[in-house]
Amino acid sequence: MKQGRILYGGLRSLDRLLHKDEWQGAKFVVLLDENTFELCLPRLVAEVEALQEASFIEVPVGEECKSLEVASQVWQTLIDDGADRQAVVVNLGGGSVCDLGGWVAANYKRGIRHINVPTTLLAMVDAAIGGKTAIDFGGVKNSVGAFCTAAAVVLEPSFLQTLSAEQLLCGRMEMVKTAAVADPALYADLIASPTLSPEHIKQVARIKAAVVKADPFDLAARKILNFGHTFGHAIEMHSRLPHGLAVGVGMKAALYLSMRKAGLDEGVYDAYARWLGSTMSLPRYTLREVEKMLPLMHHDKKSTSDEVRCVLLRSLGEAVIDVAVSDHEVRDAMLHL
Ligand SMILES: NC(=O)c1ccc[n+]([C@@H]2O[C@H](COP(=O)([O-])OP(=O)(O)OC[C@H]3O[C@@H](n4cnc5c(N)ncnc54)[C@H](O)[C@@H]3O)[C@@H](O)[C@H]2O)c1
Ligand SMILES: [Zn+2]
Repeated sequence: MKQGRILYGGLRSLDRLLHKDEWQGAKFVVLLDENTFELCLPRLVAEVEALQEASFIEVPVGEECKSLEVASQVWQTLIDDGADRQAVVVNLGGGSVCDLGGWVAANYKRGIRHINVPTTLLAMVDAAIGGKTAIDFGGVKNSVGAFCTAAAVVLEPSFLQTLSAEQLLCGRMEMVKTAAVADPALYADLIASPTLSPEHIKQVARIKAAVVKADPFDLAARKILNFGHTFGHAIEMHSRLPHGLAVGVGMKAALYLSMRKAGLDEGVYDAYARWLGSTMSLPRYTLREVEKMLPLMHHDKKSTSDEVRCVLLRSLGEAVIDVAVSDHEVRDAMLHL
């Protein structure tokens, strides 16, 4: 799968890109939601001259837009507007808009180009990069989708100014995760720095792009990016925590098991536990609650009905995938939260 480019220079670099020959004469359709219409579209139009004539399609806010009904409405609008095979879908939003818009583009007229302009931190460092597009179907998240790389992903950190503290923390947890499995120095910096810089965002985006390039279809090496997610998904469902925060807690459990089973230095676990405790209030679970969460972990895409499988760390930057974890070990890790 061909990798799209990441434009680290923000909206101005998108404008430069769109002036190149391959984009001339294309019809641009910007997909956005109510929030990005208000908070991000004015800057997009002001700074990207090539999008002055673009048309816009507004979709429901958040996860709600990732449905077959919304996808059909977008296809219908594209047909009504006479969008041809040269048309380009520009996704201006968080991971939800990027997931929907990428999938809509992947299927319209057998596939047209799309560009991701992520506006949440989570989308900038994770969702917008890597070619995974999907909607939710049959009550299952991301159950229908396709691998389809964005022709370009534009990083414009100034969009983050209007995000809530919780949304920023969610994105930061995914950044810490990516750094933990790939770049110990960046990891140390991320848990030490009180604030995030555009440079941090670029570094994490680069790592994600490199990991995806090595394993675009998520068959082996890319699985390291699931670090903290087997526990995280169960915590997200059981405790109704936002995804990023649940992954933050899930990483604590995974680091604990890494120490027990994979030889991770105790100091790494202690430092993470201290940092996490300083950023959020941690859920605590009784044995009874852990018993309820165990089936959720067995249903996780990486696990089997017999054993839970997760990503552990031998050391920072050295992840091991598909490690079998017994129910007893899961209980131990969860009760240690
Ligand atoms: N494709 C992938 O590889 C991948 C990876 C991770 C997550 N995801 C998906 O991403 C989605 C979550 O993405 P998300 O966390 O970005 O949430 P989101 O896209 O649902 O957006 C969350 C909220 O933030 C608002 N928002 C967006 N930009 C804003 C801004 N600049 N200022 C203020 N508010 C803004 C949105 O309108 C929405 O209300 C999930 O559906 C998840 O499955 C996909
Ligand atoms: Zn995640």
